[in-house]
Amino acid sequence: MIAVGCDHGGFALKGVILDYLKEKNLEYKDFGTYTAESADYPVYAEKVAEAVLSGEAERGILICGTGIGVSIAANRYKGIRCALCGDVFSAKATRAHNDSNVLALGGRVTGPGLALEILEAWLNTEFSNEERHQRRIYMMS
Ligand code: RB5
Repeated sequence: MIAVGCDHGGFALKGVILDYLKEKNLEYKDFGTYTAESADYPVYAEKVAEAVLSGEAERGILICGTGIGVSIAANRYKGIRCALCGDVFSAKATRAHNDSNVLALGGRVTGPGLALEILEAWLNTEFSNEERHQRRIYMMS
């Protein structure tokens, strides 16, 4: 299952992401926010982080206006490796090198077409499992 959350700045892009996950038959849970009314991004970052850390979700997706607020908030939780991506190269590299378990996107920064390409790359790239990358991740644990 993929846990998805956003604030009002990411609400529109979250709709695009959820449509994509449905179309691909990927199981997800929408942790809100559920309207375009102003909402506090740390609340949704916490819900998605907890879903990933508890094992309820394998990975998470967080969206706010810039993607920065949700990524800062999510990375406060030990075991969360949240990567803010605005390009496909970074999306692949953060899976292969950092084994990122949460993807952050900026709904006011990244258009829907590019966001879906980033998401697809991030979902379909496995961790390299190379010793140097395992070691670096362990150093942050
Ligand atoms: C909300 O206005 C905005 O601050 C938020 O979506 C996000 O960009 C914060 O980092």
